[in-house]
Amino acid sequence: MTNRGGIITGWGGYLPAGVVTNHDLAKTMDTTDEWIRNRTGISERRWSDMGPAALGVEAAKIALDMAGCGPQDIDLLVFATCSPEYILPGSSAIVQHSLGLTCGAFDLGAACSGFTYSLVAAHGLLNMGMNRILVIGSEQLSRIIDKTDRNTAILFGDGAGAVVLEACEGEGELLGFDLGVDGSAVNILYTRHDEITHMDGKEVFRRAVRAMVSSANLALERAKLTMDDIDWVIPHQANRRISEAAVSRLNWPMERTSATVETNGNTSAASIPLALVAELDAGHIKAGDHVLMCGFGAGMTWASAVLRWGGVTREGGHGAAAYAAELPS
Ligand code: UT7
Repeated sequence: MTNRGGIITGWGGYLPAGVVTNHDLAKTMDTTDEWIRNRTGISERRWSDMGPAALGVEAAKIALDMAGCGPQDIDLLVFATCSPEYILPGSSAIVQHSLGLTCGAFDLGAACSGFTYSLVAAHGLLNMGMNRILVIGSEQLSRIIDKTDRNTAILFGDGAGAVVLEACEGEGELLGFDLGVDGSAVNILYTRHDEITHMDGKEVFRRAVRAMVSSANLALERAKLTMDDIDWVIPHQANRRISEAAVSRLNWPMERTSATVETNGNTSAASIPLALVAELDAGHIKAGDHVLMCGFGAGMTWASAVLRWGGVTREGGHGAAAYAAELPS
């Protein structure tokens, strides 16, 4: 890592109205609440009429407000989604205009790994001189699934999470990362233009656990840390059984692992930022804590990041300027 890093100074999550419970689904397809909860850990998800741009705008407003940023203060918007409104332009253009930003903006498509990919890319751009970057993960997956198909409808939901990343002198919060893709696995999870999502769930499950564990270990190694140094794990919220299988292979307890999948379902690029927001707001992550994010998605992509939390809380706390001087030794 270089000597100009980043620190997250604002965050926000947005879950739309439109809760769909397992019981609701059981009325329209051959499934049960018990089966879904046992096999996935999911009890409900949101299906919304709002597109990813509108969802992302709501999450971003909260994050910008918390960071004390006006539209002119943001140097770049990175928008992670796999359910964009259009083939062109990117949803980021809609968000840029809605928020009144004056900066550049681009979509980043790495499926469920998209937020972590974006966070890492944003750190690189801070290092090249940008000062504040808005990173959003947002999805309207309900639009790209067959809502009567029990193979996919039970899993996927809508939502958005956002962070403001601010440059600071020194290492910053990101200590190590791993980004990967195995393009030979495109056919196990894909959505063609104007079609619904196709998924070989069993194969995704099998590869997901392997990918998350090896990617998490690589990110830890690059951060020069081990699981003994970690305080909180945020896996991609796809299926509670996938999280359990992955963290048990990392010798890590579920008690210190995010499990927002129960109420959010799988929100793809929004799942990690929504879980991060939930843990921060619950006070589970404190100054100096090491946080491991690890995920996987269509591609098949995977992405992990190790952060050392800088101590910003919703009530205030250390800003980016203070961060470098206050790094825990
Ligand atoms: O972000 C990445 C996105 N994708 C994922 O992460 C998906 C990863 N995969 C999974 O989460 C799981 O594979 C699923 C939840 C999709 C399926 O769970 P599973 O434990 O792998 O179930 P299965 O496909 O092996 O099916 C077991 C049984 C089958 O019946 P038989 O053949 O044993 O009689 C299925 O037909 O369960 C049946 N089944 C269902 N029953 C009730 C499959 N889906 C359902 C359902 N409700 N929704």
